[in-house]
Amino acid sequence: MGSTKFLWGAASAAYQVEGAWQADGKGLSNWDIYTNVYRATEPVTGKQETGNIAINAYDREQYLQDIALMRQLGLNCYRFSLCWSRLLPDGVGRVNEAGVAHYQQFVVDLLEAGIEPVVTLYHWDLPRALDDRGGWYNPESVAWFRHYASLVRETLGPKVTKFITFNEPFIDLFLIEPMVENIKTGIGDPFAITDAQYGRQAVALHHWLLANAQVIGDYRAAGYRGEIGVALPLMPTIPENPGKSDDILSAALGDAVINRWCLDALFKGRYPVEVMNSIQALNPEFTVTEADLAVLAANRPDFLGVNFYAPAYVRHDPLKPLGINWMETNPDPAPAAFNGPVRPDYLRRLLERIRDDYDNPPVYITENGAGFGPVDEVIDGDTVNDPRRANYIRRHVEAALKARESGVDLRGYMVWSLFDNFEWLQGYGRRFGIVHVDFDSQKRTPKRSFEAYREIIARGVEPAGG
Ligand code: BGC
Repeated sequence: MGSTKFLWGAASAAYQVEGAWQADGKGLSNWDIYTNVYRATEPVTGKQETGNIAINAYDREQYLQDIALMRQLGLNCYRFSLCWSRLLPDGVGRVNEAGVAHYQQFVVDLLEAGIEPVVTLYHWDLPRALDDRGGWYNPESVAWFRHYASLVRETLGPKVTKFITFNEPFIDLFLIEPMVENIKTGIGDPFAITDAQYGRQAVALHHWLLANAQVIGDYRAAGYRGEIGVALPLMPTIPENPGKSDDILSAALGDAVINRWCLDALFKGRYPVEVMNSIQALNPEFTVTEADLAVLAANRPDFLGVNFYAPAYVRHDPLKPLGINWMETNPDPAPAAFNGPVRPDYLRRLLERIRDDYDNPPVYITENGAGFGPVDEVIDGDTVNDPRRANYIRRHVEAALKARESGVDLRGYMVWSLFDNFEWLQGYGRRFGIVHVDFDSQKRTPKRSFEAYREIIARGVEPAGG
């Protein structure tokens, strides 16, 4: 495999960029409801913001210009997600042909520009009709997802060589969804996530993992010739006080929950014992059968997508679910981006751990990026000065390539994100793009980090294995 070309990409997600929330027969998604009905951004940002227009990426005239920028940057891949309810407005059943045609055209347009599409099936926007039926908590969700994934395989599979089933199960299920639930039910602090929510979401995560395994099996059985994998949010955990045994234990449990739960399920076909024990203490009904584990074990992904932003500091706190207080403090002397301290050394360690503990699977960094707030978004003539982001990207690519030199089977790097976009519950207030977007006029302006990334790509990588 030494000759496999290294992928240089950028990543995005449908709800964050597409807009066109009611165009061409699209059904509504949970996020359309969260933002338009529950005004879910408001308690977090003080403003009602939605993805109704986002950065207008559904529009072909717009996205062709965006593809031109991708070419200018030198990308050879682009990761994006599909909006399930554009394809199946009710989640299952009736197909929206206009939605199918849209994504087929987008794939063709990328390929014609020499850019390989990396397609995520699920990046958090569930058809509203399925959300109303209990969403991922409902055991039928496994069958819903298989049905949707078959449509994707049949309609896009012939041209798409890389699929990602799910994006970041843990963040969606254990952070975002409980926060939205707290907003819906009027609980003052969206962050007041409870033991009961953790116990329930564990069942939902089990369904994601089963659905993932079944879909991988289905794709292989149908003779799909490309690769299929998963993108996980991986965060090395660090005890806030390394001299305190409670913090050390909570950081270890945090690691089991946020990292090993999915990694072990995907690559070893089992769940960590401490996860089973601690979740069953919250929800005695959480059970996993031998038959389920056999399905997981039989369908190892072709690759692992690593989404890395920062390590997580953990403090023991008996009032939080599982006694884990995530990232409430940041004792790290390194400068902090929105998502945590800037520690590229932890990316290298993480990649080497995956090599050692999970039998060196092929790895793509499917997300890595940063935002530092207005101090790093300074308009400067016809560009935007963002030296901190440029530096962040340079240092993380360097760390990743060092890991590759040490034998990690790293095959690509995708920055989050090409464009500023809708940052979920944080709305438009948090910018992660290497291209600035004026959300009123939709004008795109490459930032200095765009230039930095262009130079990195132009430099390229040494062939793997020296
Ligand atoms: C998600 C993205 C998000 C990014 C920046 C990841 O957790 O996959 O959708 O925008 O982080 O916070």
